Amino acid sequence: MAAIEPIDIVELGIADAQAGLVLSTEAGWNQNEADWRVFLSHGIVFGVRDSGRLVATAALLPYSAGNAWISMVLVTADSRRRGIATKLVDACLDAAKRRGLTTWLDATPAGATVYGPLGFMPTLQLRRLRLEQPQTDKATRPLSAGSLDALATRDSRAMGFDRSTLLSEFAARPRSRIVSGERAMALVRDGRAARHIGPVLADRADQALGLVDAIVRSESGPWLIDAVHAQDEFLEGLVHAGWNIERPFQRMRFGKAAAAPAQLPFAVAGPEFG
Ligand SMILES: CC(C)(COP(=O)(O)OP(=O)(O)OC[C@H]1O[C@@H](n2cnc3c(N)ncnc32)[C@H](O)[C@@H]1OP(=O)(O)O)[C@@H](O)C(=O)NCCC(=O)NCCS
Repeated sequence: MAAIEPIDIVELGIADAQAGLVLSTEAGWNQNEADWRVFLSHGIVFGVRDSGRLVATAALLPYSAGNAWISMVLVTADSRRRGIATKLVDACLDAAKRRGLTTWLDATPAGATVYGPLGFMPTLQLRRLRLEQPQTDKATRPLSAGSLDALATRDSRAMGFDRSTLLSEFAARPRSRIVSGERAMALVRDGRAARHIGPVLADRADQALGLVDAIVRSESGPWLIDAVHAQDEFLEGLVHAGWNIERPFQRMRFGKAAAAPAQLPFAVAGPEFG
């Protein structure tokens, strides 16, 4: 349905973190206030208010080497199908264009219906998986602390650009951990309702699976992970270990890719961060 009233877009600030969290919680998402603070302090977040209440958002988070992530595209249930998401994503694309940025996003199926017509092209497919409690039939594997520098280097090879600012912000949060196992590394952080594992970087699927297994046995869940669909051995291994596939995400890009990644990740940092 076409919009019949004007949609006033405003730029949000750090004071909107709580109101943003209300929107992402309404959608059942896992972001916490610290995540919103990243978008509001390092990115550009557009919003729409209705009688003072924040009813919609979209964020553009600039990374390095001319890349940026669009996320937190949220419209509260009673304001949908009025063109608000389309207008907010357009505002993000304008801001990206002015800065010469290629934009990426990981779309839910509902989001993909908005982004496709705007000119976003599909790239990787992801699968969001959840684990309530790990199976407890095997012994715990050793888990070592990993370094932020090593994680950032491997992440940059997998993304095609550097994200050390984001990863160091994650790592500095209470209860975050960078862990490493046999030729594999991962970051674990708190979400609103579940611990999140990602990115997961490894040379082989068995190494990535071994590390995830050790992580989930080392503390209690529930857990979320966003696996790269093309890593089929990893995905099958997770399902075999009791993880449930919750939903697909479609990675999409607007504009040309800056650099081809050297190696695929096994799991990403999250659809909101890529
Ligand atoms: C997805 C979402 C942001 C769309 O917001 P919205 O303001 O309703 O989107 P728009 O009004 O701009 O929709 C633009 C077009 O997208 C398509 N579209 C949007 N929602 C749709 C749906 N639920 N089913 C099918 N098509 C849909 C339609 O083509 C629509 O145009 P139309 O209304 O003229 O037919 C909103 O439904 C939402 O917040 N969902 C939950 C969170 C989410 O999934 N966010 C996307 C993250 S990637």
